Amino acid sequence: MRVSREAGEESRRALADAGVLDDDREIVVEDDALFIPVANPDAVPAGFEVVERAVPARETQTTPADVLGFEPSYERLGDVVILDEDDPARAHEIADAVVASDLPVATVLNRASKVKGELRVRDWDVLVGSSTVTTHREYGCEYRLDLAAVYFSPRLATERHRVSSQVDADECVLDMFAGVGPFVIPSAKRGAEAVGVDLNPVAVEYMRENAQRNGVAERVTAIEGDVRNLVASPSGERSEYGDWADRLVMNLPHSADEFLGTARELAGDECVLHYYDIQHEDDAFGPGERAIRAAFEPTYDVSVETRHVVRSYAPHEENVCLDVRVERAE
Ligand SMILES: C[S@@+](CC[C@H](N)C(=O)[O-])C[C@H]1O[C@@H](n2cnc3c(N)ncnc32)[C@H](O)[C@@H]1O
Repeated sequence: MRVSREAGEESRRALADAGVLDDDREIVVEDDALFIPVANPDAVPAGFEVVERAVPARETQTTPADVLGFEPSYERLGDVVILDEDDPARAHEIADAVVASDLPVATVLNRASKVKGELRVRDWDVLVGSSTVTTHREYGCEYRLDLAAVYFSPRLATERHRVSSQVDADECVLDMFAGVGPFVIPSAKRGAEAVGVDLNPVAVEYMRENAQRNGVAERVTAIEGDVRNLVASPSGERSEYGDWADRLVMNLPHSADEFLGTARELAGDECVLHYYDIQHEDDAFGPGERAIRAAFEPTYDVSVETRHVVRSYAPHEENVCLDVRVERAE
């Protein structure tokens, strides 16, 4: 259909009401005219000028919201879509819409538990597909991981970037609870010597694989085990990592305070801690700061450089990070 520009929207609506619009093709604007593609020229209402000309195919993507008629909440991790729905019927409705959309998705999972146990892994209901293994890209790094076997949250991408952006080349960075390496690998990419420790053997295997994938294997050491044994092994031997770290990442909210004695053993003469905590909003930073001071003072001078709210964790509870510089006192 050729119509004047001024009559464009009104004509498009009239053609849509008549059911003759071709949704797979673009509307083309040329000088003062609009060319509106129609699927069936014979059914065009009287009074419109039908012309023949080529118009390009439409490139817009169908989203799950287009299919559902409402905006569902979901996260993407590689080719996995993650839902957090309590109602199984609604979860299936959203999963079907995800599949019908143009998202490149192999698997749809619904959260079936909170993260739990020492390894912080959660249960999943697999709604679509079968594999929980995927490859996720974040700030120029690529992570292979199995969601059913390791902890990984795409929500922390910005926070990980905030921390790893502070890393200088030649620093010694140690992530005490490293998972598949999302702090370790960007740190190594910036030129640091990076060590990641984790209790979960599957996570440590992925950390090694991810170091290879990202071309930093020579600067990454992935260690399986309880980080408390890194400085004081059960046999009493002292490890090479005593007084080693220029930077320590402690992303084990809820229980990081129990590891501050180990952090003090690992910290070099000057060290920055990134200490994660989950606390009531009324005093989200106080308990962490007090615990760090109790562990490091007076051997170290302690100064809090940043008090950062990472995200809201639950009503009135916040996930926070304290960036703290500790310097061995004279
Ligand atoms: C909240 S996850 C953080 C993982 C990673 N830093 C990230 O951001 O994806 C905590 C990790 O600590 C590990 N972990 C728990 N207790 C540990 C311990 N005593 N020593 C070493 N790792 C531990 C768990 O296996 C889990 O992978």
